[in-house]
Amino acid sequence: MSVTANRPLAGQRILLCVGGGIAAYKALELVRRLRDAGADVQVAMTAGAQQFVTPLSFQALSGYPARTTLWDSAAEQAMGHLELAHWADRVVVAPATADLLARLAHGMADDLVTTLCLATEAPLAVAPAMNHRMWKHPATVANVGLLRSRGVQVIGPDDGPLAEGESGPGRLREPDAIVAELAGVAPPAATPAAPGALQGLRVVVTAGPTYEDLDPVRYLGNRSSGKMGFAVAASAARAGAEVVLVAGPVQLDTPPGVQRVDVRSAAQMRDAVDAALPADVYIGAAAVADYTPRAFSPKKIKKTGTGETLALDLVRTPDILAEVASREDAGLKLVVGFAAETHNVADYARQKLEAKRLDLIVANRVGVPGTGFESDDNAMTAYWPGGERDFPPAPKLRLADGLVELVAERLRADAR
Ligand code: PMT
Repeated sequence: MSVTANRPLAGQRILLCVGGGIAAYKALELVRRLRDAGADVQVAMTAGAQQFVTPLSFQALSGYPARTTLWDSAAEQAMGHLELAHWADRVVVAPATADLLARLAHGMADDLVTTLCLATEAPLAVAPAMNHRMWKHPATVANVGLLRSRGVQVIGPDDGPLAEGESGPGRLREPDAIVAELAGVAPPAATPAAPGALQGLRVVVTAGPTYEDLDPVRYLGNRSSGKMGFAVAASAARAGAEVVLVAGPVQLDTPPGVQRVDVRSAAQMRDAVDAALPADVYIGAAAVADYTPRAFSPKKIKKTGTGETLALDLVRTPDILAEVASREDAGLKLVVGFAAETHNVADYARQKLEAKRLDLIVANRVGVPGTGFESDDNAMTAYWPGGERDFPPAPKLRLADGLVELVAERLRADAR
């Protein structure tokens, strides 16, 4: 992403949610200014906003059909509202009416705009506009305070003449000033992959844990939730790839456009990966068991009369990643591994990169609260021969976009 003084929002995807106030007409100009600043803009409107301006005007200015309702099956088919919420790097509500601020503050999801704001993980900015008495009302003051306490950026309002002939604080900040305030806040940590960045490529992703069965009731497993791998698969699909997701036992929905193969054990995961190849890219995000019981006991293993301890006889599982990386017949242009490290991250990651003949390795910093296994967030550093990139703490969904962008870059840089 090239951010220049003239295009301070270059590369950012902004979802503009337009509320139902007279200032809605200024949101048309805001679309133009956001685009001038380099942003890609999609618009969602409340029912009230549609009383003041037409969706067609926003379509003409943004280049996308404006979204007006949750219940539009054609629009949902093109891009579901959850996808739209995820698409956005930032969500900007302008004008934000008193009613809309109240509904956002209280987590309502009773129309398209509030649902999008609740479903997104992107930073939210609101530009209020309303009568000055409504702005000063203790209810609005409390609602704005609540939003600020959650990290919402509040832009304006300005003090001055209002539509109804009165004067006071409540004017929507001018579009140029809104753009300047948005540009003053750091852009999201990860740059999403450009649409089509992996077009025409087949990508195999592994995710989640493996369960190694000991007997009909017990297994050896680990704490991987699959969230990281699923996020990577979803992001690769959004970037245009044909994605096969080989998933260990997890409780997650299949991302749109992804072909999912469920497995349980490391051996099954290897078979499923083999069946999914050849491919252009392999991304091993699964936490595959390193050991499995030598033999499965068809009967429940019982406590013995005297034994205080129980030794399990375990054997190594196949190293799927190393096997895939060494295959000449799999057509792979890029092989990506993951590693969970608590210390000496760079050294250990680079050792694995070399030992397993990988093109890229992504090291999670585990042992840091709120990252790694199970959490919705992560922090990671990617290493490749001659380079590295730090991904600061962020939701896994956003880090996955950054990783997919890096994969696309590495593919461009050095074909395998
Ligand atoms: O699933 P989440 O809760 O979202 O958590 C995400 C994660 C922390 C599990 C994920 O980001 C991650 O780091 N996965 C790799 C976990 C790990 O420590 O793997 P490892 O160091 O044991 O293995 C390194 C690499 O070899 C991994 O790419 C792994 O998929 C692969 N491997 C390991 C063993 C094996 N038998 N076969 C393999 O392919």
